[in-house]
Amino acid sequence: MTQKIFCCLFATQLKKNTLILQKRNVQVSVIGGASDIGSYVSLFLKRNSKVSKLHLYDDDDRIKGTELELSNLPGGPSVSAFIGDTNLEQAIHSSNLVVMVSRMPRKPGNTREQMLGANAPLIQRLCKAIAAQNQEAFVAISTNPINYLIPFASTVMYKYGCYNPSKMFGITHIDTSRSRSFVAKALKINAQEIQVPVIGGHSDKTIIPLFSNLTPRNYRIEPCQADMLTRLVRKAGTEVVMHKHGAESSTLAMAWSINEFVDIILDAILGYRVVVNCYTANSNFGTKFFAGPTSVGPHGIIQACCHFPMSEFESYLLNRCIPILSREVLEGEKYVEFME
Ligand code: LMR
Repeated sequence: MTQKIFCCLFATQLKKNTLILQKRNVQVSVIGGASDIGSYVSLFLKRNSKVSKLHLYDDDDRIKGTELELSNLPGGPSVSAFIGDTNLEQAIHSSNLVVMVSRMPRKPGNTREQMLGANAPLIQRLCKAIAAQNQEAFVAISTNPINYLIPFASTVMYKYGCYNPSKMFGITHIDTSRSRSFVAKALKINAQEIQVPVIGGHSDKTIIPLFSNLTPRNYRIEPCQADMLTRLVRKAGTEVVMHKHGAESSTLAMAWSINEFVDIILDAILGYRVVVNCYTANSNFGTKFFAGPTSVGPHGIIQACCHFPMSEFESYLLNRCIPILSREVLEGEKYVEFME
């Protein structure tokens, strides 16, 4: 009898361990790991029980210091650093998820659009490495200008013959984080309790928070508040750039939001169906790429963002956004020719 109970307990423990092993069996590469955003994201991931291996890549050899520091911390995934162009392929090899956080931050007075020339070469190198070594990976990019760079990356991958639209994501979760925070402040409620879908793109004229779809439904944003909050969300990144006097753009809020996005995508990789705000291939709104709540599973995107009921103000913003976004998508795609 005692033996039976012991066997039962042992089997339960074994089952638990197997589950934990399965849970932790995800490898993530952070490209740009030596940057401030990259370091914070890596620190968050060191605490993430779903990750078993963390690969940090940067051209800057201080990435070795980040690796050493993270390896000083007990538990969590194993951490390896990879430095320089020749090691990029190794850095992304076998990873389930490749997260690109590397970028040239914008200076005060610059728009995100002006960062295209500075940041496109990094994305091109990454796409080349993914095409050579890891075509199955989920690829998530937070580099600006996202509206252009996801179409750019998609075209590069297409040229390499390995474009998978259901695994290519622009990380726009920051706009959801900001929308929730600002609404919570305006209504004096807890941001954790609420959700705000944000659609469009990631720039001053294309971010469209749908405050009329705020949940839970018992909270309500008046039309004049919606106008003010939309301006706040659209300008939030530029405000940070100005206040940091050109040293950097938003790092803490970006890292926090990238981490939240990554954590949700890890659930998808592990087999769950999740919904996350991101910018992806999506023709439901008349452009080729569009941001919004997206349903994702273990093989990538299941359902791109669809239409929501909207207030008059939100429909007006959407009508103004579409021609801008369509032009930016086209310019992003065309930029590939410019790089050759
Ligand atoms: C942000 O929204 O904070 C980022 O896109 C960074 C930037 O340059 O604004």
